[in-house]
Amino acid sequence: MSDAFSWHPEPELIGFRDPATAREALEMFGKAIWDAGLDYLYDEASKRPVVADSYPEMRRRYFGETSEPAPAPSDPSTTEDLLREFRERIAPYVFNSQHPGAFSYFTAPPLPVSIGGEVLGQWLHQGVDVWAAGPIGALVEEEVTSWLRKLVGYGDGSWGVLTSGGVMANVMAMTVARDVHLARLLGQNEPPRGRALEGVRVYASDQTHFSIRRALDVLGFPHETLRVIDSDDAFRLHGAPVDQAIAADRRAGLLPFAVSAVSGSTNTGSVDLVGELADVAERNDLWLHVDAAYGGAARLSARDAHRVPDLERADSVTIDPHKWFFQGYDIGGLVVKHRDDLLQTFRSSPEYYRSPKDAPLNWYQYSLEGTRRFRALKLWLSWKHLGTKGFGRLVEHTNDLAAHMVQRCRELDRFEVAPAEPELSVVCFRHVPRELEDGDAVDAYQDALQRALEMDGTGWVSTTRLRGRTYLRAGIVNYLSTTDDVDAVLDALVRLSPGVLASLR
Ligand SMILES: Cc1ncc(COP(=O)(O)O)c(C=O)c1O
Repeated sequence: MSDAFSWHPEPELIGFRDPATAREALEMFGKAIWDAGLDYLYDEASKRPVVADSYPEMRRRYFGETSEPAPAPSDPSTTEDLLREFRERIAPYVFNSQHPGAFSYFTAPPLPVSIGGEVLGQWLHQGVDVWAAGPIGALVEEEVTSWLRKLVGYGDGSWGVLTSGGVMANVMAMTVARDVHLARLLGQNEPPRGRALEGVRVYASDQTHFSIRRALDVLGFPHETLRVIDSDDAFRLHGAPVDQAIAADRRAGLLPFAVSAVSGSTNTGSVDLVGELADVAERNDLWLHVDAAYGGAARLSARDAHRVPDLERADSVTIDPHKWFFQGYDIGGLVVKHRDDLLQTFRSSPEYYRSPKDAPLNWYQYSLEGTRRFRALKLWLSWKHLGTKGFGRLVEHTNDLAAHMVQRCRELDRFEVAPAEPELSVVCFRHVPRELEDGDAVDAYQDALQRALEMDGTGWVSTTRLRGRTYLRAGIVNYLSTTDDVDAVLDALVRLSPGVLASLR
């Protein structure tokens, strides 16, 4: 090997051209990295869902007394030193999605095969934007997004693209709605900009993800563009109130142009009445987007698919494999009914992307993003490994765990679930001890109970606000958990309650 890299103690891990000198070093490095991952998994992740330190404590522990980032390292280190530091300073302080009591937002434990796909994807290093920079990456993405399209119920002529997550997918969906549908309604050939974005309306429920508002903001719509409609007692948006709002807005001289529904809301997993909303959208010539970032995966299960119906009626659907498909971050997805809609929105022809005439699949023309890593590979491997049926089993299992949690809450004294019958695998619940009369005190108690559980380490749930009150929220996407783990979390809350109450007195 040339000594071009001899300034480093491990030159083979940088100058790896010659397998005779580098392969063995790379093999040892691969084993060391994988071992560090497994040590994390079995030594740390199995202990507790998350470290009990508060934010300031974590900052001090990680950064040191100054609580501020250290300067960038100027001199090389060995991988042995790096992994030692990883084990000491990183691994013990992770949020551990693999812990069976971890019922976090929508952070599922990633399947080992997905992690493997992530490693291979990085070695292959496809720049999935212009054809030449990632030809096989382009085709595998076409294949996995065709599986997502089929799952949603779309047919020929539809298209899909992988994104960094649901936020990006929702932003892209609203971009398409603006540049394709609003342009059409305005009778314009050009995508609407500036003044043309005034006086138009988009309808979504009070349970919609924050990214819909963010999308409209960054796309240049005035703040009042988003018309927030009340959801029902089960947090679902119905067609009738949207219909009424559209009629009122038309009378006021406004231009309704899109409905954004959610199938599997972040707060409660609620599923809007997409069929009704599709009827309303059709009658009123509105674009229908459905954010099924989380809930779309229910379609993997033949048993539970009916819980997320009518997605095929939407013009665009967000569906995120890094939520309920148990994929490592990041991999989100947007599918659209008409391929041309994406192309019309995002097509551009920079002079440096000169691909051959017979190579038309340039992904940058279908996405807001440019260079994207080979996200498709981990999902492609996982889907082949489990099959749709296997994925469906994992989804069903988590839905069953949620049902079990609801049942246990009903049996326990003074636990309330909202909504009373969750539609998917999110359970919002609260403990209302007899001695707390006042609503604010009950709210403060939920926060304190959540923190007590975090410190106890048996499990982890988040908190949220529903109709102005604080609830504990279990997002059950952990396929490794069992009913015993659910019971352990609820038992821990009961056990911790007296101490929490005493601390609030
Ligand atoms: C319904 C819904 N849509 C969109 C998103 C945003 O997804 P991401 O954070 O992956 O960008 C989330 C995140 O939880 C979500 O629950």
